[in-house]
Amino acid sequence: MIDVSPPFTFVLFGATGDLSLRKILPALYRAHCSGTLAEAGRIVAVARVAIDTEAYLAWVDDNVRPHVDADWDAQVWETFLGRIDYISLDLACPDQFSVLGAHLNAACGPRVFYLATGPQLFVSICRGLATAGLNEAARIVLEKPLGHDLKSSMEINDTVGEIFDEQQTYRIDHYLGKESVQNLLALRFGNALFEPLWRREWIDSVQITIAEELGMEGRGEFYDQTGALRDMVQNHLLQLLAIVAMEPPHTMSADAVRDEKLRVLRALKPIDGEALSRCVVRGQYQAGVSRGIPVPAYVQEAGIPAGSQTETFVAIKAEIDNWRWAGVPFFLRTGKRLPERGTEIVVNFRAVPHALLGASSLRAGANRLVIGLQPKESIRLHCLAKRPGDGMQLESVSLNLDFDQCFSGKRMDAYERLLLDAIHGRLALFVRRDEQEQAWRWVEPIQAHWRMSTKPPKHYGAGTWGPVAAGAMLAQHGHCWPEAEY
Ligand code: BG6
Repeated sequence: MIDVSPPFTFVLFGATGDLSLRKILPALYRAHCSGTLAEAGRIVAVARVAIDTEAYLAWVDDNVRPHVDADWDAQVWETFLGRIDYISLDLACPDQFSVLGAHLNAACGPRVFYLATGPQLFVSICRGLATAGLNEAARIVLEKPLGHDLKSSMEINDTVGEIFDEQQTYRIDHYLGKESVQNLLALRFGNALFEPLWRREWIDSVQITIAEELGMEGRGEFYDQTGALRDMVQNHLLQLLAIVAMEPPHTMSADAVRDEKLRVLRALKPIDGEALSRCVVRGQYQAGVSRGIPVPAYVQEAGIPAGSQTETFVAIKAEIDNWRWAGVPFFLRTGKRLPERGTEIVVNFRAVPHALLGASSLRAGANRLVIGLQPKESIRLHCLAKRPGDGMQLESVSLNLDFDQCFSGKRMDAYERLLLDAIHGRLALFVRRDEQEQAWRWVEPIQAHWRMSTKPPKHYGAGTWGPVAAGAMLAQHGHCWPEAEY
């Protein structure tokens, strides 16, 4: 049964920007195609450029359509465009928001204000909405980056918090909208099999990798101010870690889930002092070869200043100081220009306590659960089995579950799910202020250390798995990254 949204007014600030073009409008179109948007739902696109609705729709037709090719249908596209109006507004001038107010007076349903703009405009947009009296009973959706450190993120949250209360505030981390991340919750809490083993007594270590094959793709200027720690670790990687490590919440309500994630983030052992060099590796890619094609070094990409020290790779050994996880390393890793795109969680179980079945059982390694989140969703459970024949030779074999084979049909895109949740008023997949600030608190000593450091990031060739030091960090603990294992 299709869960159709209530009537709504979705106001998209930054409607001509890259995010609107590549993610938000395509996601709204997909939701429109699947029948999950109420017929009475309207989209009001807002940006600075002085054009009318007709010109904006022509722009959408040219620029958004290529991103929805697979789902494009001429008639459905026309009805989708029929939902959209455009208003030109200088978002830096709160006084101009009365124009928007007048336009929205006729609009129906809950109002969802989506801020797909740079964070420097968040404050003036919120003030404008308040001046025009538009904040009552509305929802505000904030895109990352929400600041560049704890202080700036608190400033944004303070100002937004003066105008919208926490229950009205939807902070996006698009990883939380991924089908595969939802499935992680299903794996952990829908099965009796894993939960009893999901603790330090049985788990030796956990590895979480978000690998990207792409380089800067025209985002160099933004990326150079950001780097991998802020772009991927503070948000996506720490959210994945929190979901892997959290206690079962007592319900799946938004606050019950977010309380448990927060507990994990609070229990993360601070990385400071000498641990900053022992437990963190920062890297930057050099020229190399990606899929057989030569690609430039990071500092040769458009928009990157010569001599930039921005990291395009981070590996961290994190620890969670609580009863369940004490002493279990969580190795986190992310990077641009790695050999392939893939997000994977590897749970390494402890070896059996006694090598009853001989030396081959030790050589074959321990059980390992590998959860592939993207591009393909899969679960592989590596077990030891006896090789047929004489004697007791054990080998690691894997039990494979490929979701594409189990479940046919299209997957819902992360943005589509999150936008629908915002329209429905479901907060569970959005990040609460305290979670977000705790994540900043944890990465801050690393940021500060790099700011003061005279050592440049470690180099790695584009198309390789990152600096040698990232492998060496694991080797010190008797581990290796998955690609070195297979
Ligand atoms: C974004 C980062 O949040 O996530 C990008 O800003 C990154 O740099 C992207 O490429 C990765 O998302 P996904 O869904 O492609 O893994």
